[in-house]
Amino acid sequence: MIEKYITEDQLEVKITELALKINNDYKNEELVIICILNGSFMFCADLIRKLDLDLIMEFMSASSYGESTDSSGTLDIRLDIERDIKGKNVLIVEDIVDTGLTLNKIKELLLGRGPKSLKIASLLHKPARKIHHVDIDYLGFEIEDKFVIGYGLDYANKYRELPYIGIYQNS
Ligand code: IMP
Ligand code: MG
Repeated sequence: MIEKYITEDQLEVKITELALKINNDYKNEELVIICILNGSFMFCADLIRKLDLDLIMEFMSASSYGESTDSSGTLDIRLDIERDIKGKNVLIVEDIVDTGLTLNKIKELLLGRGPKSLKIASLLHKPARKIHHVDIDYLGFEIEDKFVIGYGLDYANKYRELPYIGIYQNS
């Protein structure tokens, strides 16, 4: 069963708000957007269509391995970005920060490549599950400790196409 949790209208309003802030913060500057696949494809597509900036789009697919409590866990990069980000303004676009492990690792990796600036936009944040602190510069919604699907997020690779965020219940 799927319970609607964040509606299409709420998403639209929030993403417009985030885009306004980003447009303002990067005025007259080039910005490299790194869309973290797969989950953030829909959020990222909607967000960038509201940006009026000199953009370069990059895509990355990565997942963190092992114990989520182990900060030394490794990052498995299935797809890396194509261009050098040295000296560039970079904005990572993610679907959800849960324990924070994945984004922490991605951030560490990208910082090592010498960007001029590195910020994070995440549509969702589950503070109850936080293990690794991640500064989210542009946050959509703080949510309860529930498993959410839709608008890019999956359960066993399904439900990504839903235009809203739902709560997945196993019954
Ligand atoms: P982390 O625990 O912050 O490293 O989260 C890693 C990844 O788990 C996220 O980028 C999502 O892809 C996935 N994830 C975490 N919570 C949920 C959820 O509620 N629904 C769908 N995917 C989730
Ligand atoms: Mg993800």
